[in-house]
Amino acid sequence: MRFLSIKKKADIRAAAELIRAGGLAAFPTETVYGLGGDAFNTAALARIFEAKRRPRFDPLIIHIAAAEDLELAADLSVLSPRTRQRLDRLRGLWPGPLTLILPKRRELPDLATSGLATAAIRFPDHPAAQMLIRLSTRAVAAPSANLFGRLSPTRAEHVRDQLGDKVDIILDGGPARVGIESTVLDLAGERPRLLRLGGTPREQIEALIGPVEIAGPVRAGDSGSAGGRDTVPPAGLESPGQLTSHYAPRTPLSVYRREDIAALDYRPGEGFLFFDGAAREAWTARNGGGVQNAGTAVMTLSETGDMIEAAAALFDTLHKLDALGLSRIRAQEAPGGSLGPAINDRLYRASVR
Ligand code: TXA
Ligand code: MG
Repeated sequence: MRFLSIKKKADIRAAAELIRAGGLAAFPTETVYGLGGDAFNTAALARIFEAKRRPRFDPLIIHIAAAEDLELAADLSVLSPRTRQRLDRLRGLWPGPLTLILPKRRELPDLATSGLATAAIRFPDHPAAQMLIRLSTRAVAAPSANLFGRLSPTRAEHVRDQLGDKVDIILDGGPARVGIESTVLDLAGERPRLLRLGGTPREQIEALIGPVEIAGPVRAGDSGSAGGRDTVPPAGLESPGQLTSHYAPRTPLSVYRREDIAALDYRPGEGFLFFDGAAREAWTARNGGGVQNAGTAVMTLSETGDMIEAAAALFDTLHKLDALGLSRIRAQEAPGGSLGPAINDRLYRASVR
């Protein structure tokens, strides 16, 4: 594995060459790091599933670097006028953390879409990612560059720690700006539906196309074999990535409302993840001098309770807490609105095992 940097154009070119040759390169996007391969090379696609130990029923997102390239992966000829209008409006949010589910173009390998009639497509808002995609094959399949079911990577080091030599090149672009994965919106049906909450808030989408419903979560137990490989998809699984056991740190995690976490007693060996500094201070005051020993096991997503800052820090902070060998992480819920529901979605999934 070669550890390269987006600061050197030659390094981005090397990663693009590798993808053209059927290899895998991990690269930064504004949301999280992706594990990229040529979307039209079935051997490369197979290697992506292999490297992540991802079940084949969980389809990949196709990354493009120009709005026109949407048709490399999607068949727009079958869209109803209403869907086409929604698509035109939503394109205003591209490049950005929004993945659209659209009817698949026949030429796109079934492996990329796990045999579904639809494809997930995204235009990331990251100059190095765009350059990489443009110089490689213009359609790069890239799931988040973590092992299946584990925390998503927001730094190149997270990718190295989880995937190591399973990836040929890791392009280091520093910490991801948004820090949570893209919002996944299903536009294939007549009613648009949110399949995954993410970096584009629901309100922003609804301002453009009106009300969107949220597809119900799927429980981990419904899957039967979430860790398996070529298993059949669990019945009724619409967006396979919606398995509730997703984003799991190794450490058990519990989620609390703001007033409830501040009322907890500190127990040595446990970690605390506060959303904002004020909640942490309330908890510290309650626990007195005893919490001085807690040290790095007490972390805060944003001192001022800023939602954007908190989302950007979420996975990195969970990675850090997870490395401390704690008996449990007690985490504070984010407030509602904006990226709050997407943050809470990750916290609650991390609490399911
Ligand atoms: O921000 C992101 O989206 C990152 C970066 C690398 O772009 N990528 C990412 O990919 O999060 P991944 O593979 O971890 O998540 C893709 C999600 C999964 O929940 C998957 O089930 C869903 O998209 N998905 C992909 N194709 C789909 C389809 N045709 N229909 C429904 N859901 C689909
Ligand atoms: Mg993922």
